[in-house]
Amino acid sequence: MNNRIRKTGIMTGGGDCPGINAVIRAVVRRARLDGVTVMGVKNGWLGLIENNLELLTRQTISGVLPRGGTIIGTSRTDPLSDPERLQMIRDTWNRNSLDALIVVGGEGTLTAASRMFREQGYPIVGVPKTIDNDLGGTDYTIGMDSAVSVVAEAIDRLHSTAESHHRVMVVEVMGRHSGWIATLGAIAGGSDVVLVPEAPFRLSEVCDVLTLRRNSGRLFSIIVVSEDARPHPDEDFLTQEQRQAIYHGERLGGIGPILAAKIEEVTGIDARATILGYMQRGGSPTAFDRILATRLGIKAFEMVLAEEFGRMAAIRGLNVTSVPLEEAVAQPRPVDPELIRVARVFEG
Ligand code: F6P
Repeated sequence: MNNRIRKTGIMTGGGDCPGINAVIRAVVRRARLDGVTVMGVKNGWLGLIENNLELLTRQTISGVLPRGGTIIGTSRTDPLSDPERLQMIRDTWNRNSLDALIVVGGEGTLTAASRMFREQGYPIVGVPKTIDNDLGGTDYTIGMDSAVSVVAEAIDRLHSTAESHHRVMVVEVMGRHSGWIATLGAIAGGSDVVLVPEAPFRLSEVCDVLTLRRNSGRLFSIIVVSEDARPHPDEDFLTQEQRQAIYHGERLGGIGPILAAKIEEVTGIDARATILGYMQRGGSPTAFDRILATRLGIKAFEMVLAEEFGRMAAIRGLNVTSVPLEEAVAQPRPVDPELIRVARVFEG
């Protein structure tokens, strides 16, 4: 029992993903045990700017465990962009008598959370959620497993059509600057080539793999390409405009169709591209994500009770723990090289 903590806010920011509602549910259910009120801050930091909060009760969270998205909404609003915003947030905080805030976010949201703790003194606890799995200090982020399951299922489906038409299928997946979704999706789906941001690829090598497969009687191939995978500078086949559009536009994406066209041009093999896009973020969380989200939600609330602020709930091995927010967002966590090696065993 901590008598100083009577009311906590919970906010979800950045891209949605499966499992966020399971975190909210866990926090509300755990908070009830200590008689702590939970306020849902609507639409990320925007809810604090606009004083848009709602009381989360047992009724509110009933039935949300399997639901995708976030019942309290999200946005990519930056709370620190101007002093006026900061003042509005301070007013909302005081008006609602918040004692703490649980921020469920990915790299952008938790970077802001870390700064709001360090520079503005807010008592904040983070929870890692992003399909990209690119946060430091935790083995897994909530949503990654669900996204990988979507990729694996998509590859299964693309296999049958690729095989029937003797085609190369290029599957473009999300993940920003880290190749977790691509690599794990490729392993789970059994793709023939995987291209990740961590290792620039040579078109000639990709085409050699495809030609070799064809010559040995494997008439179809599946390539998984990460949205931020880049051609090696030695063999850069992208035009300036294409490079700009794929990697430096408002959002990443578009390498898949260009790569498929290039492969067709070089090898003469029919190639098609599929961009999985937001399918990877939608829908129901896997059992793994529901369990992870539930454990991290409960841990986050207990960190609030223990006044362990400026830290993020995390999972290391089988254990739930906590790490400094600063460590979590220091830099994008690259995919484990061991996983790339595993995926490469199945190349060709
Ligand atoms: O960070 C999650 C993610 O889905 C990335 O994989 C992707 O690059 C990005 O968000 C898309 O952002 P938005 O939702 O703003 O289009």
